Amino acid sequence: MTSEYKILITGGNGQLSIDLAQVFEGTDLVVLSHEALDISQSHQVEEALQHYKPEVVINAAALTDVDGCEHNVEQAQLVNAQGPKNLVRGAQLVGARVVQISTDYVFDGALDRPYVECDQTNPQSIYGLTKLAGEQAMRNSDLIVRTSWLCGLHGSNILKTIVQLAQTGKPMSFVDDQIGHPSFTHDVATTIQQLVELEAQGIFHVTNQGSVSWYQFAKTILSLMGRPSDQLTAITSEQLQPPRPALRPANSVLDNRALRTLGLESPPDFRITLPKLLEVLCE
Ligand SMILES: NC(=O)c1ccc[n+]([C@@H]2O[C@H](COP(=O)([O-])OP(=O)(O)OC[C@H]3O[C@@H](n4cnc5c(N)ncnc54)[C@H](OP(=O)(O)O)[C@@H]3O)[C@@H](O)[C@H]2O)c1
Repeated sequence: MTSEYKILITGGNGQLSIDLAQVFEGTDLVVLSHEALDISQSHQVEEALQHYKPEVVINAAALTDVDGCEHNVEQAQLVNAQGPKNLVRGAQLVGARVVQISTDYVFDGALDRPYVECDQTNPQSIYGLTKLAGEQAMRNSDLIVRTSWLCGLHGSNILKTIVQLAQTGKPMSFVDDQIGHPSFTHDVATTIQQLVELEAQGIFHVTNQGSVSWYQFAKTILSLMGRPSDQLTAITSEQLQPPRPALRPANSVLDNRALRTLGLESPPDFRITLPKLLEVLCE
């Protein structure tokens, strides 16, 4: 499906951006890497938007190193909070809408049910705090897409790490006390495209379905690869060595309620997409 809008995507070398570019192929599309556009620089943003005059700006650029953000607060603030502000300001000048990609980490994870879009946010990390500020920079007419546990064929991600460890037979341990929806970049990008076409506004949770812990996710991958699961150990977050600087929500499960309300299907259960990705990654 091609889009009738002129689209500009930021953070063009990121794992989600690469699949977004693929999904929007055939559309009037501009993809700008970090090198081509630093979203934290307001003059660069204004110049780029005035030059390309997009109708939709999809901001997939972010500082996504969750632990790194704890040590680099200023940079996290600049990219994850000021960046979206700059994009909204630039978008206003050319009459564009903004699609801001956000995260499950805006929640504290204390709820005992999946999070819906209107649930109270309460980020526990610098990454979560700055991403929430990015959400708050949006106008009512913009679109916020929260996703979780992203992985896919491009860039570096946990799926690729698990596959590599499995192939080398090295022991690995994953936490069994954080649950979420593993989400695949191509599936998420496809739903984002549908939302853009529908000119959706407000907050949408967009994740693959199926709640698991990181340990269960790794176990599913090993099983699909035909590898023994004795390579894998379940641990608690407290047992992580070295301890992680950033707190993660224990419950990261995002209910895709707003998608259902709009009559759109959520991305499929992660167990449906996973074998197809493994086929490519294990070639
Ligand atoms: N990864 C996850 O598990 C996850 C989960 C939930 C939500 N999200 C959100 O999903 C979105 C996409 O994430 P992703 O996993 O695709 O991230 P990613 O692979 O880390 O890509 C982010 C991209 O942003 C670029 N970038 C960093 N600073 C920038 C700046 N100042 N200006 C322009 N570009 C900049 C990076 O370029 P350099 O590498 O060259 O700096 C990188 O290409 C982000 O908004 C993220 O917060 C991710």
